Amino acid sequence: MISLAGKVALVTGGSRGIGRACALRLAEAGADVIVNFVTSEKAATDVAEQIRALGRMSAIVKADVSEPDDVRLMLDFVGKQFRQLDVLVSNAATGGFRSLEKSTPNHFAATMNANVRALVTLMQEAAPLLRRTEGRAKVTALSSHGATFALPHYGLIGASKAALESLVRHLALEYGQQGINVNVVRAGLVDTDSTRNVPNAEAVFQHAQAKLMVGERRLTAADVADAVLYLSSSLSDLVQGQTLVVDGGEGIHP
Ligand SMILES: NC(=O)c1ccc[n+]([C@@H]2O[C@H](COP(=O)([O-])OP(=O)(O)OC[C@H]3O[C@@H](n4cnc5c(N)ncnc54)[C@H](OP(=O)(O)O)[C@@H]3O)[C@@H](O)[C@H]2O)c1
Repeated sequence: MISLAGKVALVTGGSRGIGRACALRLAEAGADVIVNFVTSEKAATDVAEQIRALGRMSAIVKADVSEPDDVRLMLDFVGKQFRQLDVLVSNAATGGFRSLEKSTPNHFAATMNANVRALVTLMQEAAPLLRRTEGRAKVTALSSHGATFALPHYGLIGASKAALESLVRHLALEYGQQGINVNVVRAGLVDTDSTRNVPNAEAVFQHAQAKLMVGERRLTAADVADAVLYLSSSLSDLVQGQTLVVDGGEGIHP
């Protein structure tokens, strides 16, 4: 049984989808959890209420992770209100599904700022708290198969995930001797608000499902959250700078 009793976690984009599942899973394991959102205040409030119903402390923080000032203010809030931070889940991402041919410089910048640069800013602002953790602090970023596969309408996000995975290895190199582990969970396709907007969503889901090797089970946000929980716990103290794939086997065959 993994226990995060006495730990404080921050989940970016914790209001919906995989981030929501992570926030709840970490709270079930005993952590107090801060839920970051950017537009969905009601959804974030619902998650925080569910966390409090588990007997944990929670707060919601509106911050656009692609804005360094927002990130700084969010970590100021965490430091003042919770006095510690042991677990950071860098889950928030954006990008939209479009061809590279139709992508503008603004699309490119917005995707890279939210999906890649945000992790650098989060680490810079969170490190003073993370370094004070008892035991090792845990940072986990969310990636996808776009990091290594070419997928339709996914060029910008896929490139951002490839950059993110490299960034995680370099952050592990820089922060590893400071008591901080930095890892990635690379998830297969999960039914969330964002993936429902994938062009040809039904066919895409059927194709992914056919490649799973776990019987009739579908990959869910809760499955991804379980991997994040492992990487947020002391069980993974010796796992550093790695990418853990959680996809039911989807990615190992054509
Ligand atoms: N779903 C999949 O199949 C899949 C597969 C592999 C990896 N992933 C990765 O898993 C993560 C979550 O994906 P998801 O499908 O759960 O997404 P989602 O359902 O669309 O939820 C996105 C979350 O991120 C937040 N967010 C978006 N932009 C933000 C910003 N600039 N600042 C702060 N928060 C922001 C949203 O906040 P609001 O609610 O306030 O808008 C929301 O909580 C992403 O990194 C994604 O790339 C997803």
